[in-house]
Amino acid sequence: MAVSGAAAEAPRLRLADPADLPGILAIERASFPSPWTEPMFAEELKNDWSHLWVIEAGPERSIVAFCVFWVAADEIHLLNIAVAPPWRRRGLARHLLTAIIAFAEARVASHVVLEVRPSNTPAQRLYRQFDFRPVGLRPNYYADNGEDAILMLRMVAGRLT
Ligand SMILES: CC(C)(COP(=O)(O)OP(=O)(O)OC[C@H]1O[C@@H](n2cnc3c(N)ncnc32)[C@H](O)[C@@H]1OP(=O)(O)O)[C@@H](O)C(=O)NCCC(=O)NCCS
Repeated sequence: MAVSGAAAEAPRLRLADPADLPGILAIERASFPSPWTEPMFAEELKNDWSHLWVIEAGPERSIVAFCVFWVAADEIHLLNIAVAPPWRRRGLARHLLTAIIAFAEARVASHVVLEVRPSNTPAQRLYRQFDFRPVGLRPNYYADNGEDAILMLRMVAGRLT
């Protein structure tokens, strides 16, 4: 039976594929001063250790959010997360982070790490909601303005599989 109306337009999280790259790039360019390029995202689709997830939503099933993370031994490193500006403050980043933590818990991960700009208050508030804590500073981390990065860590009750 075909799904219609609101249910058909509801946000759905799934693995990205190459056809999603234009939608991902549009969000990336609207979100960051030094956006990743298309080859950078294409590389993430190829690497075994990399996970590129999208959320599609709306009548056109557009890409409205994405995240990129790496799995390396027992560590999950969240490299990128962004939501299309018109779709912000609707819980989509929370949806992605909830899924990442669930993925981490189901795998061997002992912790999730990420870097965030000291000036990025919205993202820091988001991460604190998920019990990420600042554990260090990476000096001059961001090439565009030399801003430091706050390193944030979230322990995970992972299990060995
Ligand atoms: C940061 C970002 C991913 C949040 O996405 P979002 O879908 O709007 O976030 P959510 O609606 O899931 O919000 C979850 C929580 O994050 C925090 N938050 C999100 N946007 C915020 C804002 N503009 N101001 C303050 N807090 C904010 C709040 O704590 C919020 O919880 P609440 O709504 O109960 O107050 C989004 O603003 C974005 O894409 N920014 C540009 C890219 C970026 O900075 N990525 C992070 C790089 S480290």
